Amino acid sequence: MTQGQRLSGKVAIVTGGASGIGAETARQFAAHGASVVLCDVQDDLGRTVAQEIVDNGGVAEYHALDVTDEAQWIALVASVEAKYGKLNVLCNIAGVSGRPANMLVQPTGVMTGTALEDQTLENWNYIMGVNSTGVFLGTKSAIPAMRRAGGGSIVNISSICGIVGSFANAAYHASKGSVRIFTKSTAIQYAKEGIRANSVHPGFVDTPMARPGLLGNESGKARMDATPMGRFGKPIDIAMGCLYLASDEASWVTGSELVIDGGMTAN
Ligand SMILES: NC(=O)c1ccc[n+]([C@@H]2O[C@H](COP(=O)([O-])OP(=O)(O)OC[C@H]3O[C@@H](n4cnc5c(N)ncnc54)[C@H](O)[C@@H]3O)[C@@H](O)[C@H]2O)c1
Repeated sequence: MTQGQRLSGKVAIVTGGASGIGAETARQFAAHGASVVLCDVQDDLGRTVAQEIVDNGGVAEYHALDVTDEAQWIALVASVEAKYGKLNVLCNIAGVSGRPANMLVQPTGVMTGTALEDQTLENWNYIMGVNSTGVFLGTKSAIPAMRRAGGGSIVNISSICGIVGSFANAAYHASKGSVRIFTKSTAIQYAKEGIRANSVHPGFVDTPMARPGLLGNESGKARMDATPMGRFGKPIDIAMGCLYLASDEASWVTGSELVIDGGMTAN
Protein backbone atom coordinates (compact mmCIF):
# COMPACT_ATOMS: atom_id res chain seq x y z
CA MET A 1 0.00 0.00 0.00
CA THR A 2 1.30 3.45 -0.89
CA GLN A 3 1.71 5.49 2.24
CA GLY A 4 -0.07 8.82 2.16
CA GLN A 5 -0.05 11.79 4.45
CA ARG A 6 -3.59 11.57 5.72
CA LEU A 7 -2.58 12.74 9.22
CA SER A 8 0.17 15.10 8.18
CA GLY A 9 1.02 17.57 10.95
CA LYS A 10 -1.26 15.96 13.52
CA VAL A 11 -0.30 14.84 17.01
CA ALA A 12 -1.95 11.64 18.19
CA ILE A 13 -2.19 9.64 21.39
CA VAL A 14 -2.88 5.93 20.87
CA THR A 15 -3.59 3.78 23.93
CA GLY A 16 -3.06 0.05 23.88
CA GLY A 17 -0.26 0.85 21.46
CA ALA A 18 2.05 -1.97 22.52
CA SER A 19 0.04 -4.78 20.94
CA GLY A 20 -2.53 -5.88 18.39
CA ILE A 21 -4.90 -3.25 17.03
CA GLY A 22 -3.27 -0.39 18.95
CA ALA A 23 0.23 -1.17 17.69
CA GLU A 24 -0.97 -1.35 14.09
CA THR A 25 -2.95 1.87 14.47
CA ALA A 26 0.15 3.61 15.82
CA ARG A 27 2.14 2.34 12.82
CA GLN A 28 -0.49 3.53 10.33
CA PHE A 29 -0.90 6.92 11.99
CA ALA A 30 2.86 7.48 11.87
CA ALA A 31 3.07 6.23 8.28
CA HIS A 32 0.52 8.89 7.39
CA GLY A 33 2.47 11.72 8.93
CA ALA A 34 1.25 11.93 12.54
CA SER A 35 3.52 12.32 15.53
CA VAL A 36 2.39 9.40 17.65
CA VAL A 37 2.58 8.98 21.41
CA LEU A 38 1.70 5.37 22.00
CA CYS A 39 0.78 4.32 25.51
CA ASP A 40 0.35 1.05 27.34
CA VAL A 41 1.20 -0.88 30.48
CA GLN A 42 3.44 -3.29 28.54
CA ASP A 43 6.51 -1.07 28.54
CA ASP A 44 9.01 -3.29 26.70
CA LEU A 45 6.59 -4.08 23.88
CA GLY A 46 5.53 -0.45 23.65
CA ARG A 47 9.09 0.79 23.39
CA THR A 48 9.76 -1.80 20.68
CA VAL A 49 6.78 -0.62 18.60
CA ALA A 50 7.85 3.03 18.96
CA GLN A 51 11.43 2.22 17.97
CA GLU A 52 10.23 0.27 14.94
CA ILE A 53 8.20 3.29 13.80
CA VAL A 54 11.18 5.60 14.27
CA ASP A 55 13.44 3.16 12.39
CA ASN A 56 10.96 3.34 9.50
CA GLY A 57 11.22 7.12 9.41
CA GLY A 58 8.16 7.97 11.50
CA VAL A 59 7.78 10.12 14.60
CA ALA A 60 6.79 8.10 17.66
CA GLU A 61 7.52 7.68 21.30
CA TYR A 62 6.32 5.34 24.01
CA HIS A 63 4.75 6.66 27.21
CA ALA A 64 3.76 4.36 30.08
CA LEU A 65 0.09 4.87 30.95
CA ASP A 66 -2.44 2.96 32.97
CA VAL A 67 -5.66 4.23 31.42
CA THR A 68 -7.53 3.83 34.73
CA ASP A 69 -5.33 6.43 36.46
CA GLU A 70 -6.56 10.02 36.03
CA ALA A 71 -3.34 11.59 37.32
CA GLN A 72 -1.36 9.69 34.67
CA TRP A 73 -3.72 10.94 31.96
CA ILE A 74 -3.35 14.55 33.08
CA ALA A 75 0.45 14.20 33.10
CA LEU A 76 0.44 12.53 29.68
CA VAL A 77 -1.62 15.21 27.97
CA ALA A 78 0.48 17.96 29.58
CA SER A 79 3.70 16.34 28.37
CA VAL A 80 2.32 15.89 24.83
CA GLU A 81 1.29 19.54 24.65
CA ALA A 82 4.62 20.67 26.10
CA LYS A 83 6.65 18.62 23.61
CA TYR A 84 4.53 18.80 20.42
CA GLY A 85 2.57 22.01 21.08
CA LYS A 86 -0.88 20.46 20.63
CA LEU A 87 -3.06 17.36 20.64
CA ASN A 88 -5.26 16.58 17.64
CA VAL A 89 -6.19 12.90 17.91
CA LEU A 90 -6.93 10.51 20.75
CA CYS A 91 -7.44 6.87 19.91
CA ASN A 92 -8.66 4.91 22.94
CA ILE A 93 -7.75 1.33 22.09
CA ALA A 94 -6.48 -0.17 25.37
CA GLY A 95 -8.76 -2.94 26.56
CA VAL A 96 -9.02 -6.23 28.37
CA SER A 97 -11.23 -9.24 27.78
CA GLY A 98 -11.32 -10.21 31.45
CA ARG A 99 -11.57 -13.77 30.20
CA PRO A 100 -10.98 -16.24 33.02
CA ALA A 101 -8.54 -19.12 32.65
CA ASN A 102 -11.34 -21.69 32.79
CA MET A 103 -13.81 -20.57 30.21
CA LEU A 104 -17.27 -22.06 29.95
CA VAL A 105 -18.01 -23.91 26.74
CA GLN A 106 -21.51 -23.51 25.44
CA PRO A 107 -23.31 -26.22 23.43
CA THR A 108 -22.47 -24.20 20.31
CA GLY A 109 -18.80 -24.73 21.14
CA VAL A 110 -18.24 -21.02 21.74
CA MET A 111 -16.03 -20.34 24.72
CA THR A 112 -17.47 -17.71 26.97
CA GLY A 113 -16.57 -15.79 30.05
CA THR A 114 -17.96 -16.34 33.49
CA ALA A 115 -21.69 -17.01 33.75
CA LEU A 116 -23.37 -13.82 34.87
CA GLU A 117 -24.44 -15.19 38.27
CA ASP A 118 -20.83 -16.20 38.99
CA GLN A 119 -19.28 -12.89 37.91
CA THR A 120 -17.26 -11.39 40.74
CA LEU A 121 -17.56 -7.70 41.45
CA GLU A 122 -13.78 -7.51 41.31
CA ASN A 123 -13.64 -8.89 37.76
CA TRP A 124 -16.58 -6.68 36.70
CA ASN A 125 -14.83 -3.59 38.08
CA TYR A 126 -11.54 -4.54 36.42
CA ILE A 127 -13.15 -4.87 32.98
CA MET A 128 -15.27 -1.75 33.36
CA GLY A 129 -12.27 0.13 34.74
CA VAL A 130 -10.03 -0.43 31.74
CA ASN A 131 -12.58 -0.62 28.93
CA SER A 132 -15.08 2.01 30.03
CA THR A 133 -13.59 4.28 32.71
CA GLY A 134 -10.31 4.38 30.78
CA VAL A 135 -12.13 5.83 27.77
CA PHE A 136 -13.91 8.38 29.97
CA LEU A 137 -10.68 9.52 31.61
CA GLY A 138 -8.83 9.78 28.30
CA THR A 139 -11.64 11.75 26.72
CA LYS A 140 -11.97 14.05 29.73
CA SER A 141 -8.23 14.72 29.78
CA ALA A 142 -7.92 15.29 26.04
CA ILE A 143 -10.82 17.67 25.45
CA PRO A 144 -9.26 20.85 26.92
CA ALA A 145 -6.12 20.24 24.85
CA MET A 146 -8.17 19.62 21.70
CA ARG A 147 -10.08 22.84 22.38
CA ARG A 148 -6.76 24.69 22.57
CA ALA A 149 -5.79 23.02 19.26
CA GLY A 150 -8.98 24.30 17.60
CA GLY A 151 -10.65 20.89 17.39
CA GLY A 152 -9.79 17.23 17.31
CA SER A 153 -10.86 13.66 16.73
CA ILE A 154 -11.51 11.02 19.39
CA VAL A 155 -11.73 7.43 18.18
CA ASN A 156 -12.95 4.90 20.73
CA ILE A 157 -12.63 1.17 20.20
CA SER A 158 -15.82 -0.55 21.22
CA SER A 159 -16.64 -3.95 19.70
CA ILE A 160 -19.43 -5.84 18.03
CA CYS A 161 -19.95 -6.82 21.69
CA GLY A 162 -21.03 -3.22 22.25
CA ILE A 163 -23.89 -3.68 19.78
CA VAL A 164 -25.14 -7.24 20.31
CA GLY A 165 -25.11 -9.62 23.25
CA SER A 166 -23.76 -13.18 23.30
CA PHE A 167 -22.73 -16.01 25.60
CA ALA A 168 -19.47 -14.13 26.19
CA ASN A 169 -18.61 -12.23 29.35
CA ALA A 170 -21.49 -9.87 30.16
CA ALA A 171 -19.09 -7.41 31.78
CA TYR A 172 -17.14 -7.15 28.53
CA HIS A 173 -20.37 -6.53 26.60
CA ALA A 174 -21.46 -3.92 29.15
CA SER A 175 -18.11 -2.15 29.00
CA LYS A 176 -18.18 -1.97 25.21
CA GLY A 177 -21.82 -0.88 25.12
CA SER A 178 -20.83 1.89 27.49
CA VAL A 179 -18.10 3.03 25.10
CA ARG A 180 -20.58 3.13 22.22
CA ILE A 181 -23.09 5.43 23.92
CA PHE A 182 -20.48 7.49 25.79
CA THR A 183 -18.97 8.29 22.40
CA LYS A 184 -22.28 9.64 21.12
CA SER A 185 -22.67 11.88 24.19
CA THR A 186 -19.14 13.16 23.68
CA ALA A 187 -19.92 13.88 20.03
CA ILE A 188 -23.01 15.90 20.89
CA GLN A 189 -21.43 17.88 23.73
CA TYR A 190 -18.37 18.94 21.72
CA ALA A 191 -19.59 19.12 18.10
CA LYS A 192 -19.80 22.92 18.18
CA GLU A 193 -16.13 23.06 19.16
CA GLY A 194 -14.98 20.92 16.25
CA ILE A 195 -14.14 17.97 18.46
CA ARG A 196 -15.45 14.79 16.85
CA ALA A 197 -15.97 11.44 18.57
CA ASN A 198 -16.71 8.14 16.89
CA SER A 199 -16.68 4.49 17.92
CA VAL A 200 -15.18 1.55 16.04
CA HIS A 201 -16.69 -1.92 16.41
CA PRO A 202 -14.33 -4.74 15.45
CA GLY A 203 -15.49 -8.29 14.94
CA PHE A 204 -13.12 -11.17 15.63
CA VAL A 205 -9.58 -9.93 15.03
CA ASP A 206 -6.50 -12.09 15.40
CA THR A 207 -4.57 -10.40 18.23
CA PRO A 208 -2.98 -11.66 21.45
CA MET A 209 -6.22 -10.85 23.29
CA ALA A 210 -8.56 -12.71 20.98
CA ARG A 211 -6.36 -15.58 19.78
CA PRO A 212 -7.30 -18.07 22.55
CA GLY A 213 -10.90 -17.94 21.35
CA LEU A 214 -10.11 -17.99 17.64
CA LEU A 215 -7.44 -20.49 16.74
CA GLY A 216 -7.38 -24.26 16.98
CA ASN A 217 -10.59 -24.87 18.90
CA GLU A 218 -14.34 -25.22 18.56
CA SER A 219 -14.83 -21.63 19.57
CA GLY A 220 -12.75 -20.48 16.64
CA LYS A 221 -14.75 -22.66 14.26
CA ALA A 222 -18.06 -21.26 15.52
CA ARG A 223 -16.76 -17.70 15.24
CA MET A 224 -15.42 -18.30 11.74
CA ASP A 225 -18.78 -19.80 10.72
CA ALA A 226 -20.44 -16.62 12.03
CA THR A 227 -18.19 -14.39 9.91
CA PRO A 228 -19.61 -14.16 6.37
CA MET A 229 -16.34 -13.05 4.79
CA GLY A 230 -14.73 -16.29 5.89
CA ARG A 231 -11.68 -14.95 7.67
CA PHE A 232 -10.85 -13.31 10.96
CA GLY A 233 -9.85 -9.69 10.92
CA LYS A 234 -6.28 -8.46 10.98
CA PRO A 235 -5.22 -5.47 13.09
CA ILE A 236 -4.76 -3.42 9.92
CA ASP A 237 -8.45 -3.89 9.03
CA ILE A 238 -9.33 -1.96 12.18
CA ALA A 239 -6.40 0.47 12.01
CA MET A 240 -7.57 1.72 8.60
CA GLY A 241 -10.97 2.57 10.06
CA CYS A 242 -9.29 4.48 12.89
CA LEU A 243 -7.12 6.28 10.33
CA TYR A 244 -10.17 7.47 8.39
CA LEU A 245 -11.99 8.68 11.51
CA ALA A 246 -8.89 10.43 12.82
CA SER A 247 -8.28 12.22 9.54
CA ASP A 248 -9.88 15.35 8.10
CA GLU A 249 -11.52 13.10 5.49
CA ALA A 250 -14.05 12.41 8.28
CA SER A 251 -14.52 16.08 9.12
CA TRP A 252 -18.37 15.76 9.05
CA VAL A 253 -18.43 12.41 10.83
CA THR A 254 -19.23 12.44 14.52
CA GLY A 255 -21.27 10.25 16.84
CA SER A 256 -21.10 7.44 14.33
CA GLU A 257 -20.24 3.79 14.81
CA LEU A 258 -18.01 2.07 12.30
CA VAL A 259 -18.53 -1.70 12.26
CA ILE A 260 -15.57 -3.65 10.86
CA ASP A 261 -16.49 -7.29 11.30
CA GLY A 262 -16.41 -9.20 8.04
CA GLY A 263 -20.20 -9.01 7.91
CA MET A 264 -20.89 -10.75 11.20
CA THR A 265 -23.47 -8.37 12.64
CA ALA A 266 -25.19 -7.98 9.27
CA ASN A 267 -26.44 -11.52 9.78
N1 LIG B 1 -9.22 -8.64 18.93
C1 LIG B 1 -10.54 -8.62 18.81
O1 LIG B 1 -11.16 -9.58 18.29
C2 LIG B 1 -11.32 -7.44 19.29
C3 LIG B 1 -12.66 -7.34 18.92
C4 LIG B 1 -13.40 -6.24 19.33
C5 LIG B 1 -12.80 -5.25 20.09
N2 LIG B 1 -11.49 -5.38 20.44
C6 LIG B 1 -10.92 -4.31 21.25
O2 LIG B 1 -9.77 -3.81 20.59
C7 LIG B 1 -8.89 -3.23 21.56
C8 LIG B 1 -7.49 -3.74 21.32
O3 LIG B 1 -7.47 -5.12 21.64
P1 LIG B 1 -6.50 -6.16 20.90
O4 LIG B 1 -7.37 -7.22 20.36
O5 LIG B 1 -5.56 -5.45 20.02
O6 LIG B 1 -5.79 -6.81 22.18
P2 LIG B 1 -4.30 -6.70 22.75
O7 LIG B 1 -4.33 -7.46 24.02
O8 LIG B 1 -3.33 -7.11 21.70
O9 LIG B 1 -4.12 -5.15 23.04
C9 LIG B 1 -4.70 -4.51 24.15
C10 LIG B 1 -3.65 -3.62 24.77
O10 LIG B 1 -4.25 -2.87 25.85
C11 LIG B 1 -3.28 -2.79 26.87
N3 LIG B 1 -3.88 -2.49 28.16
C12 LIG B 1 -4.60 -3.32 28.96
N4 LIG B 1 -4.90 -2.71 30.12
C13 LIG B 1 -4.36 -1.46 30.06
C14 LIG B 1 -4.35 -0.37 30.94
N5 LIG B 1 -4.94 -0.42 32.15
N6 LIG B 1 -3.72 0.77 30.55
C15 LIG B 1 -3.11 0.83 29.35
N7 LIG B 1 -3.09 -0.18 28.47
C16 LIG B 1 -3.72 -1.32 28.82
C17 LIG B 1 -2.61 -4.15 26.86
O11 LIG B 1 -1.38 -4.13 27.54
C18 LIG B 1 -2.48 -4.41 25.37
O12 LIG B 1 -1.25 -3.97 24.86
C19 LIG B 1 -9.47 -3.58 22.93
O13 LIG B 1 -10.20 -2.49 23.44
C20 LIG B 1 -10.42 -4.74 22.61
O14 LIG B 1 -11.45 -4.86 23.56
C21 LIG B 1 -10.74 -6.44 20.06
